[in-house]
Amino acid sequence: MPTLAMRVMRMVDDPSVSGRDLERVISLDPVIMGEILKLANSALYSPKFPITSLRHAVSYLGLEVVKNLVMMISLKSMVLGDEDPAVEEFLKGLWVHSAASAIVSRFIADSSSSPLDKEDAFVCGLFHDVGKLLMTKFSPQEYMPIVERVKKGEGGFVEVEQEEFGIDHCMAGAVVMEAWEMPSHIVHMVKQHHIKSEHPMTACLALANLFCATWGYSVTPLEIEIMVFPWATQVLSLDGDQWEELSQNAKMQIEEAKEILDI
Ligand SMILES: [Fe+2]
Ligand SMILES: [Fe+2]
Repeated sequence: MPTLAMRVMRMVDDPSVSGRDLERVISLDPVIMGEILKLANSALYSPKFPITSLRHAVSYLGLEVVKNLVMMISLKSMVLGDEDPAVEEFLKGLWVHSAASAIVSRFIADSSSSPLDKEDAFVCGLFHDVGKLLMTKFSPQEYMPIVERVKKGEGGFVEVEQEEFGIDHCMAGAVVMEAWEMPSHIVHMVKQHHIKSEHPMTACLALANLFCATWGYSVTPLEIEIMVFPWATQVLSLDGDQWEELSQNAKMQIEEAKEILDI
């Protein structure tokens, strides 16, 4: 994780840190600053008046949201860019999936009757497949054949990764996130995100993955993601009408954020 993102993460966890302190650190990187202003003005956060300064963005969004946006921008800059066009295309697809999952998970958490923190859901959605991003980025020769096997229907990512790598993307992601000193409850959710537990956050992530696969923001075939439907809707107590409404509204959220996020 880039140094600035790590610094911002630690600062926001420290109760003595103020918005001004955060603003001073973020303003060291004009690219991140510009991206935050773009996101703050997007339909995702729909301000009543245009947000024109970082100070305004921090006071409107709050420290936690600004931190999450810094993580999102940093993750993108960290993983994109590879000389091999096939690897770059797959990384771009994964980035789009991660950003879309963050938006949809936040929306599901906000709309659900389950006690889910929407900013936690955003971070879980953003990082749930970070293991895939990093395995592709740092071992493309080993990881791209896994992608081919999944495409051919030889299994889901988790089982093919375990066969080929001896570790799946859930565990790999969790190990790296621990090294980045990310909050333990988020790391736990990433580690568990393909397990059908009773925890509403895993159901939220599974539904976000299903929505993303339905609308083409995924690298996983829809027939694999659809299998979570009965379990995840039951854990989140969603009936057919609520599901349909959530699906349409979540789709709109991604469409509105598409240009801003470059997805
Ligand atoms: Fe996953
Ligand atoms: Fe995913």
